Amino acid sequence: MDGVTVIDHPLVQHKLTLMRRKETSTASFRRLLREISTLLCYEVTRDLDLTTMPIETPMEAMDAPILEGKKMVFASILRAGNGLLEGMLDLVPAARVAHIGMYRDHETLQPVEYYFKAPEDLGNRLVIVVDPMLATANSATAAMEKLKERGARNIRFLCLLAAPEGIQRFRDAHPDIPIFTASIDRGLNEKGYIMPGLGDAGDRMYGTK
Ligand code: PRP
Ligand code: URA
Repeated sequence: MDGVTVIDHPLVQHKLTLMRRKETSTASFRRLLREISTLLCYEVTRDLDLTTMPIETPMEAMDAPILEGKKMVFASILRAGNGLLEGMLDLVPAARVAHIGMYRDHETLQPVEYYFKAPEDLGNRLVIVVDPMLATANSATAAMEKLKERGARNIRFLCLLAAPEGIQRFRDAHPDIPIFTASIDRGLNEKGYIMPGLGDAGDRMYGTK
């Protein structure tokens, strides 16, 4: 599918299966999400530009590769996005962080925004937006609009599970933003949940209902 990368690394797929299982405890779900997010982070940053800087090893001087450009921004769509955020920050501790507070109204499936905080200069940075679930894509498309309003130009979206309906809607609304996901599931049920999915990601992370 154009603009969509499925991260099919065996470790990702194995951990995802453990996360999907209904018997998996809240503690295990959180730990697995943190572990899987470091692997996803590795893939979503695979093609970042490098430059070199002169350094001295204990043996001699060399021009060594480092990431080019300003520090990245990881933008978490709350609450569940924070599960991915933690592992991403383990790998890229210097990244800047944006928080987008948004929840889905269970009746209308429309996003309700309650918080937004992001670094000022989004236009000069790569912004990687994280949320485990892309279902109807109402939340993710609204989050992208908000980030673009604030100047973001170079954005990637990273999730764990995506529904085909959500991918279509997201790509129609934001064809410039590539999607990275560990799985494209079968589709949505009548309540807008991903099938077979893993249930409500936020509830499974935090033990709420
Ligand atoms: C979940 C998920 C996404 C959204 C996806 O969040 O983390 O943000 O639903 O659904 P959509 O693609 O149909 O918009 P939720 O609204 O349950 O909030 P939470 O993370 O606070 O639990
Ligand atoms: N949000 C979730 O947490 N799970 C779904 O299946 C759909 C939206």
